[in-house]
Amino acid sequence: MCGIVGYIGKKPSVPFLLNGLSKLEYRGYDSAGIAVLTDENRICVRKAKGRLSVLSDKISGENISGSIGIGHTRWATHGEPSDINSHPHTSNRGDIAVVHNGIIENYAILKEKLISRGYKFVSETDTEVVSHLLDYYYKGDMIDAIIKLTEKLEGSYALGIVSAAHPGELFAVRKDSPLIVGIGENENYIASDIPAVLEYTRDVYLLEDKEIVWFKDNQVTVLDTDKTEVKKEVFHIDWDVSAAEKGGYEHFMFKEIMEQPSAITNTVMPRIENGNVVLDNITLTKEDIERFNKIYIIGCGSAYHVGVTAKYFIEHLARIPVDVELASEFRYRNPIINKNDLVIIISQSGETADTLAALREAKKQGARILSIVNVVGSSIARESDDVLYTWAGPEIAVATTKAYSTQMQALYLIGLYFTKMKGTIKDEELTEIINELCSLPSKVQQILDNMQPLSSYAAKHFNAKDVFFLGRGLDYCTCLEGSLKLKEISYIHSEAYAAGELKHGTISLVEDGTLVVSLATQGAIFDKMVSNIKEVKTRGAIVFSIAQEGNTAIESESDFVYYIPKTLDIFAPALTVVPLQIFAYYMAVNKGCDVDKPRNLAKSVTVE
Ligand code: G6P
Repeated sequence: MCGIVGYIGKKPSVPFLLNGLSKLEYRGYDSAGIAVLTDENRICVRKAKGRLSVLSDKISGENISGSIGIGHTRWATHGEPSDINSHPHTSNRGDIAVVHNGIIENYAILKEKLISRGYKFVSETDTEVVSHLLDYYYKGDMIDAIIKLTEKLEGSYALGIVSAAHPGELFAVRKDSPLIVGIGENENYIASDIPAVLEYTRDVYLLEDKEIVWFKDNQVTVLDTDKTEVKKEVFHIDWDVSAAEKGGYEHFMFKEIMEQPSAITNTVMPRIENGNVVLDNITLTKEDIERFNKIYIIGCGSAYHVGVTAKYFIEHLARIPVDVELASEFRYRNPIINKNDLVIIISQSGETADTLAALREAKKQGARILSIVNVVGSSIARESDDVLYTWAGPEIAVATTKAYSTQMQALYLIGLYFTKMKGTIKDEELTEIINELCSLPSKVQQILDNMQPLSSYAAKHFNAKDVFFLGRGLDYCTCLEGSLKLKEISYIHSEAYAAGELKHGTISLVEDGTLVVSLATQGAIFDKMVSNIKEVKTRGAIVFSIAQEGNTAIESESDFVYYIPKTLDIFAPALTVVPLQIFAYYMAVNKGCDVDKPRNLAKSVTVE
């Protein structure tokens, strides 16, 4: 949530700040602002409610000179989106400005104290306590003031700070919110995430909690809260710059849908050697795997849906009990876990606040942590015992597609690896499954080459008010994701139901013209699914079915059928999600929605 950037160098800072913020808008986009330390040694603040473009237009005629600055793109938590609540926030004299990502949990009590000391608050934000506290603690040394600040603040923060008393300097600090330092030539940067600096440098420092960064002229010093210098290693990013650009596509989401064959190839193929799954850098031994009584899979949003799917196939193949939990529930419910349990954490960003907290809770209780992460060096990756990277490249659209697909592949790899270690199925069968796994990228490509029927179908039905997604077993799991995709980007109400539950309530919502998306790819329960489709059809539903190629029995029960290439039933989720992504995308495009930046959402949810 919220994106922050900062620049210190020799050039005017505004172009970097605006460009950097444009790369972070996926983190929040209800208002934006910048603060520049001008050549006259004043702090010039400009901010505006709305997308970054509103701010850019507002300042387009101005010449804001100054080669040090900070910027912010907001996802409102405390106080509605407005010019006043936008960041940066300043001290009452206007000589200190801060941008903040995170939530100051004890802001109310701090605010009360500051008011009693004569500080005037102008916004409703939690962040404003930071600028006033810095002013209160500042006695000539900004590092000392920041250290005192870290002692007082509770909650999460990544902060960028400029001060008129410190020309030629920029400060930053983080706790539980992501922040990186970009190391350039004669200029340096801060940013919430890598895409903001990718055009300028590939060398970054990853910061630990409560590390303070002090930029003075061309020097970057990282200090701990004892004011001792911390030697940081440079982390080199090898992403291609174009990977974070739209590359001719109208939307990032569509580009990322199209990238799925190569993304899943990158996740899987380097991990298949001589027909066996080899998990790079995973230190789990056969004995560890045999010792696990239970696996917990934890994530939020789509990552959770991957977990729900993985439960079905890991239990089926490796015969280890799996529980799947939403991170926001797990972290507060005092779960029963111990050293004989494996906790698998799934997160694209590696920074989701609830997921990170769940990881810490599980670790505290002694569980072994294996994480599936996309962003290299993120907090979740760093705090896990083992990490399996998805190598999907940067994902920018708020609605995940390629990260979801690669997380699924990573779980297939883990499931098959555990299966081999536990010897729960015969080697020949395992080989057949692994061969099929390797064919999935080309099968996803076949779907992408045949999306026209889906776009035409969406063009006819984008005015639907409610859509129900029905499926059984692994199909039900994919329904959860298909329904989420549709509702988050098209704002059409939709729900996913296990088809067997239909008669326990949901069917009362089905009436003439209700659109039902039915997934029927699972051989063993195909007939049951057909009966459920008949039940909704009888009550007037319009049925769009997805089935495996050759399974034409579904046609007489459906108004429209989309066939996925034939695959093993356990791999159907890797394919069926793709037409559902495309369907959701075209429903949203036809409705004229902002596909990449759906209202009220943000990609990286770094607050609770
Ligand atoms: C947000 C995103 C979802 C994502 C979820 C978890 O809600 O919009 O696409 O699944 O966060 O994010 P993570 O980075 O932990 O996978």
